[in-house]
Amino acid sequence: MSRPQIIASTGGKGGAGKTVFSILFCRELARMGKKVVLIDADLGTPNVHTKLGLKSKGQKRTLQRALAQPENLSSSLIEVESIGTRNVEGGRFSVLSSLGDSNLRSFGNWDDQGQQQFYNQFKAILDQFSQLDSSTSCDVVVIDTRAGIDGNVCDFCMMADDRVVITGEEDTLRADALSLLKMLHFYDRDEDKHNPDRVTANWIVANKAEDEGMGQSVCKSLVSDLERWASIRKDISEIVTSRLPRYLGWIPEIEIPGDEGTLLEARDTIAEASIRQLAENLCCKNDGDDPRQQFLSDLTG
Ligand SMILES: Nc1ncnc2c1ncn2[C@@H]1O[C@H](COP(=O)(O)OP(=O)(O)OP(=O)(O)O)[C@@H](O)[C@H]1O
Ligand SMILES: [Mg+2]
Repeated sequence: MSRPQIIASTGGKGGAGKTVFSILFCRELARMGKKVVLIDADLGTPNVHTKLGLKSKGQKRTLQRALAQPENLSSSLIEVESIGTRNVEGGRFSVLSSLGDSNLRSFGNWDDQGQQQFYNQFKAILDQFSQLDSSTSCDVVVIDTRAGIDGNVCDFCMMADDRVVITGEEDTLRADALSLLKMLHFYDRDEDKHNPDRVTANWIVANKAEDEGMGQSVCKSLVSDLERWASIRKDISEIVTSRLPRYLGWIPEIEIPGDEGTLLEARDTIAEASIRQLAENLCCKNDGDDPRQQFLSDLTG
């Protein structure tokens, strides 16, 4: 089996919309016929299952089980059934969540060795996605990160092929997204191996935007802030400017009925269309128009 595309949903600021994006993005991919797995990597406060209304009590299909038995990965995945009538044959949306797992909740307090062991096991899970047979295989893995601009968030980001930075019009959202983008240029858990010149495909999604125009202007402003910073940092300015994040799309403010477990019940055709568009752009194009291929060929010259 081929390796799935791995995408991190991130953004720095709490409440930016990372989890809403992750869920709706995965649903749209499944509706397009993709097999997609969403991993809730917000270990301290996981809430993908809450937003999906999944049963957590007594749940045996958990991230913890997958970490212990990566070879039995498919038995740790929970399939989300209510993805809607538009899903074409073959589409599947599954979740890997640390729900009901008190041990992982304290992950932030584990020592370096414990955290390193966790990341090694987590990478083994990602590798295992390439080994699944055709009935359980997977095209796209989305890692929903927690809020923060720190090593933990960057560690998950670094495991991904693409990072989608969820931001918005508010200054604080853009400021945190900017800090995260800067940190991604420097960070490596193993500092000896740090290579600032590696390929980093970063994408911007403007959440709660009024329209495409606002989405693009949020992205433009973030990119020019990053360029300004790069122009002062002479040591890395060339790398940063050759790897600027790109605009991926926008999401409108959605009317979400109720508090919990109802995200998939929200009916918003504009949101669904805009998320579908960005999902197609990131995961479905194989021709010369593919922004991802274009991005990578720009980098390699
Ligand atoms: N496009 C949107 N339209 C309407 N409400 C939204 C939208 N995006 C996010 N929200 C709401 O904003 C709140 C935060 O969203 P979400 O949980 O996705 O953010 P997050 O970035 O994952 O937060 P955290 O950092 O806590 O993980 C939720 O109440 C969610 O319903
Ligand atoms: Mg979240």
